[in-house]
Amino acid sequence: MNKTKNPKQVQIGIVGLGMAGSIMIPVIEAHPEVVLAGAAEPSEEFRHRFAKDFECPVTETLEELVRLPELDAVYIATPHQMHCDHVLMAARHGKHVIVEKPMALKAEDCEEMIRACEEAAVAIVVGHTHGFGAPVAAIREMVASGRFGALRMLQSFNYTNFLYRPRRPEELDSNLGGGILFNQVPHQIEIIRTIAGGDKVTSVTAVTGKYDTDRNTEGAVMAMLDLSGGASATIVYSGYDHFDSDEFHGWIGEGGNTKEPAQGQTRAQLAQMREQSDEADMRNQLFGYGSKLWPQIQAMARATDHPHFGTLIVSCEGGDLRSAPGGIAIYSDSGPEFEELPQARAGGGRAEVLDELCDAVLRGKQPFHDGYFGRDTLEVCLGIQRAAQSGKQISLDAKFGANRQTGRLAHV
Ligand SMILES: NC(=O)c1ccc[n+]([C@@H]2O[C@H](COP(=O)([O-])OP(=O)(O)OC[C@H]3O[C@@H](n4cnc5c(N)ncnc54)[C@H](O)[C@@H]3O)[C@@H](O)[C@H]2O)c1
Repeated sequence: MNKTKNPKQVQIGIVGLGMAGSIMIPVIEAHPEVVLAGAAEPSEEFRHRFAKDFECPVTETLEELVRLPELDAVYIATPHQMHCDHVLMAARHGKHVIVEKPMALKAEDCEEMIRACEEAAVAIVVGHTHGFGAPVAAIREMVASGRFGALRMLQSFNYTNFLYRPRRPEELDSNLGGGILFNQVPHQIEIIRTIAGGDKVTSVTAVTGKYDTDRNTEGAVMAMLDLSGGASATIVYSGYDHFDSDEFHGWIGEGGNTKEPAQGQTRAQLAQMREQSDEADMRNQLFGYGSKLWPQIQAMARATDHPHFGTLIVSCEGGDLRSAPGGIAIYSDSGPEFEELPQARAGGGRAEVLDELCDAVLRGKQPFHDGYFGRDTLEVCLGIQRAAQSGKQISLDAKFGANRQTGRLAHV
């Protein structure tokens, strides 16, 4: 429920009460420095359910929400293609912003969003979530400490059922930001770049796969990235609901939730559901605020295992580091060892996203995952797409625009 206004807290409104917006709600409620202060959502049904649960205002449009004077910030969890307009509107009304990944679908839009936030002197955090998790932070610290020598290789692979979860039409259209390239791969890029201290990607080679003509968008990718600091990385992703790489992570799901093996079942369920109703409607019925899967969504947001995004192995000259259930597995010259992480915070990285917003709004700290970080991550997604289409190595150096004034951040 809404808490009393306190200058040491950030009053936040949620824009879009779909899956991402809904998962964030319990995380906001559990955060000591953030207060749920409103929501905007076109679906009357979701608004009605939200209004029954919370005393704060819920509006049909973002225009109405950003006019609320008590609001300090908004969390933009609307479909990708709306992120740019929604950030511009929030900035115009002086609201700080968390925007979901991908930051936008065009680099020029990212530039406009950065400019608008700078002109309005509001913070922008691109809240990809997975790069914020404790295992990624712990590996980053180990790398930055120099304990294992220079960073050389990073490998991120993830096999999921992504393509067979019910989707909105644009999520299956590559020209509109559909498929895994703009929805899932940003997580891998951001994990890699966070561990490499914010390094840019200088070149990309890639192949992508569209293996199902019925869902004719990229469902698989294999990419190799060169990083500005000298390390290289590979990204492999398959969303075809065959192998599930959570098997390699003790059947802990990406949000830190325990799960039952169910390979192949999402495809079968989708086929069955599609016989009964429209896929986009089905998506809303399953994932929107208060919908059928709401108890599971809440449970995921409260999961207390650490989040992960498939298998992550980071190689330094003196050892390999692997994100594992409960901590980091280390394989160095002195043999294998295991460093346990403290108890995970619930929310699969979302509590840390809110921390980064609070650090910016309450303590004036430049966010690490700011607009420049989000833009550069999008440039890599676009680079992977071009590399796969051309079959050539794509250089990204010239593609990156201006840097943030402060350069690399002090805490990384
Ligand atoms: N970080 C993560 O782990 C994560 C997880 C899921 C989704 N996402 C991101 O969140 C965004 C939303 O994805 P989703 O899966 O929640 O989609 P969704 O379809 O479940 O939810 C989107 C919601 O936005 C609402 N909406 C549409 N137009 C709006 C408007 N003009 N103003 C306010 N609300 C509006 C829709 O009615 C819907 O309820 C995407 O960009 C996606 O990439 C991130």
